Parts: sequence; structure tokens; C-alpha cells
Amino acid sequence: MTNAAKSAMLRFDNKEIELPIYSPTVGPDVLDIRKLYAEGDVFTYDPGFTSTAACESAITFIDGDKGELLHRGYPIDQLAMDSHYLEVCYLLLYGELPEKQQMIDFEARVTNHTMVHEQMHYFFRGFRRDSHPMATMVGVVGAMSAFYHDSTDISDPWQREVAAIRLIAKLPTIAAMAYKYSIGQPFQYPKNDLDYASNFLQMCFAVPCETYVVNPILAKAMDRIMMLHADHEQNASTSTVRLAGSSGANPFACIAAGIACLWGPAHGGANQACLEMLREIGTVDRIPEYIAKAKDKDDPFRLMGFGHRVYKNFDPRAKVMKESADEVLELMGVHNNPTLQVAKELERIALSDEYFVSKKLYPNVDFYSGIILDAMGFPTSMFTPIFALSRTVGWIAQWKEMVTDPTQKIGRPRQLYTGELKRDYKSVDER
Ligand code: CMC
Repeated sequence: MTNAAKSAMLRFDNKEIELPIYSPTVGPDVLDIRKLYAEGDVFTYDPGFTSTAACESAITFIDGDKGELLHRGYPIDQLAMDSHYLEVCYLLLYGELPEKQQMIDFEARVTNHTMVHEQMHYFFRGFRRDSHPMATMVGVVGAMSAFYHDSTDISDPWQREVAAIRLIAKLPTIAAMAYKYSIGQPFQYPKNDLDYASNFLQMCFAVPCETYVVNPILAKAMDRIMMLHADHEQNASTSTVRLAGSSGANPFACIAAGIACLWGPAHGGANQACLEMLREIGTVDRIPEYIAKAKDKDDPFRLMGFGHRVYKNFDPRAKVMKESADEVLELMGVHNNPTLQVAKELERIALSDEYFVSKKLYPNVDFYSGIILDAMGFPTSMFTPIFALSRTVGWIAQWKEMVTDPTQKIGRPRQLYTGELKRDYKSVDER
């Protein structure tokens, strides 16, 4: 933990408590309130953790006002343009960009683990064919702890490392299997002579009776989608992984918990919800109706793919993703389809409408990723699984950091209780 150079005095009810203030390498100062309950007999109240730092971390930094996202100090737009997914994985996991040989060794380690235990195939068959692939993934990833006993001892650094590599290597295989199962096609084994993104595309789109050649433009776009989703500091699913891990749960169980959290439409489920919304709007002339709904305080409807808890200027991932969207749409020749026309017009209106401008609601990464994945041929139900497999490295890097953090404790938030006072039980005849 950083040493406190400053402190703040909190005075209330004749008490005076000195609270240390830590200065991070970049970003707002952090007030240490750990002794508040012991010395002041009060809790803090912060639903949604909008002002609470729950951990110390050196992996990712976001400046929401500047629209900046840094992984280990490197800006996401530089990584997205010049790096590739597995290199970003290495950076997130180990803190530095790899040298040539380190990259070769890391790629070989990941590639060596792409197949799943053959018995897992039977596990898939227990699911209904119409299961959402996220439902299947929560189950199958959780079940990895039943298949890989030699990497569940979290006190052993080597086992933690093997679990991390296994998760990064197998998540694309599991996501592709969930997809193939849902459409009734045979599972496609990984091909280790392909790069990570191309291998995922072939596991999703190849069939045994035909030759499948991966289009390099689509592989590049897929790799970029993966990079742009790799980590995002303490978001809901990452915090879920940390909270699950804080009890000492094994990494496979923790990542399954992260996948469950990611599924919600306010988080990773937004890419699916966004495309479904664009299809529901259907034609450009219906946009004003939906804009009015989004502004109506009595209507719970929100424009999916707009707004972000942290970015209140623009989402730097969305900027790069928009470029990929243009490339992929050009290649697939779908620049004139009705969904895309709705998307373009919605983007134009929202960026100039007073309501969205004043609330700083910009298109986020999910607005564009859904459009790209749709053009690539993925059904909407696969959008969130692709987010999940890409985010697995972030989750596992944050989990590894937490496990070795000497200040780490089991997560146990407190509450502002507003229920009944103590009262005596009455038998049913007396009620
Ligand atoms: N459409 C219409 N109004 C909105 C929207 C939206 N998408 N997002 C926020 N607002 C309004 C909201 O009604 C509120 O208005 P008021 O101040 O008058 O009550 C104001 O903007 C602030 O909203 P908030 O709910 O306090 O903001 P938040 O930081 O808690 O929520 C969010 C962030 C991402 C959950 C929200 O913007 C949202 O629901 N967006 C749509 C879902 C979405 O696209 N999520 C993906 C996020 S990016 C991927 C990821 O990181 O998972």
C-alpha cells in the first residue's frame, strides 16, 4: 500500500478521526476509511460504489472525463492499432510488453491448452439446445473446477498460472461449442496453427464437410474486439470475480461468477440488447418515438449502447471500434441494410440532441461491436459470450493480483438497515 502523505479530519458527535489520504500514480486521491467503524462506530453509504475504491490495482486505469483507458500505462488506442490480443493478454497478466521469445513461449503455452477435456462434450449435451450460450458458459466454466483439479489450489503460484492459461486458452473453445450446440452442428476442434482470433472464427463457422478459410479482415476485426474488451478495471463483473475470489473460491468458480454478472443488459448484455433494439426500431422514421421514450422519466426504456458509468466524455474503445465497423461492413457489403441505417441515424441524433449531449451519453463500445458481430454472421445471442471470452484475461489478471495482495480480506459490505426493529413472533392464530 502507498504511504499516506496527506490526511483528512472527520469530526462528528464529539469524535475526531484522522483518515489517511493516498495519492495514486494518476487519478483522484483516495481516502482510507478502514478504521471508521472501529473508531467512529459509523459505516459509509455508497450504493453502486460510485465513490468507493474497493482495492489497490496496478493493471488498468480509466480517466472518464478525458476518455482515456490505459493498460499497464499503454493507451488502448495504441494497443488496438498496433498490438494483438495475446500480446495484450501478456501485458495485463505480467505487467510488461513481452520480448520476442517471451511472446513465442506465451503463445505456445496458450495454444497447448485450447482443447477441453473430452468428457466436457457430454456435459454440454445436458443442456437444452435452445439454451442461451451465456447460460451454457456459466455452467461449463464453473464445471472446469470439476475437470482440472490440478489447478484449483489458489495458494500455489504455479497452479494459479496454469489456471490462468487454461481459462484464456479454453474460453473461445467453450464459447464456440456453446454456439455449435445451440445450432445443432458438430463441435469443431481448435486448430493450433491458427492465431487466437482466427481459431475462434473457425471453431464457430467451419463445418467438417467443407474447407473454411478465415478472412484476414474478419480475423483482424475479431482480434480488435477481443483487445478492446480485455480489461476495464473494477467494473461489475470484475468486482464480482474479486468478491467471489475473496472467499478463497477457485479461479474457475470465480470466472463463472464473472460471466453471470456480465450477462446483464446494463453490462455485457448491452451489445445483444442494442442490436435487438435497432431491429425493433426497424426504420429510420421510428427513431423519434424511441428517443422520446428514452427521455421520458416515467418510461424505464434506455437507449442501449449509449452511456457509461465512468466515461462521461467519450468511450475510447468506441472510437476504434467504429473504424473496424466501417472496414467489416465494407467487406461484407452490408452498409445499406436497414439496421445499420437506423444505427447511423440514431448515433447522429443522439450526438446532437440536447438531452444526450447534456447528460454526456455517447455511443459506447457495445453500440459498434454488436454491428460488427452481426455483419460477421454471429447471432445476437453470441455477442455477450464473445465479450466474456475477451474479458477472461482481465478477470484472471485482477484475480491473480488480488490473491497476492497482502491487504486482501474477504469482501463483506455493510448496510443501512431500514427494516423492522426487534419484535416477538406471534403464532398464526394471534396475527
Ligand atoms: N438512455 C437514456 N437515458 C440514459 C441512458 C441511456 N442509455 N443512460 C443513462 N441515462 C440517463 C439516466 O436516465 C439518468 O438521467 P437522470 O439524471 O435524469 O435521472 C442519467 O442519464 C444518468 O444515468 P445513470 O443511470 O445514473 O448512469 P449510470 O452511470 O448509473 O449508468 C449505464 C451507466 C451504462 C448503466 C447506463 O448509461 C445504461 O443503462 N446504458 C445502457 C446500457 C449500456 O449500453 N450498457 C453498456 C455499458 S458499456 C459496456 C460495459 O462496460 O459493460
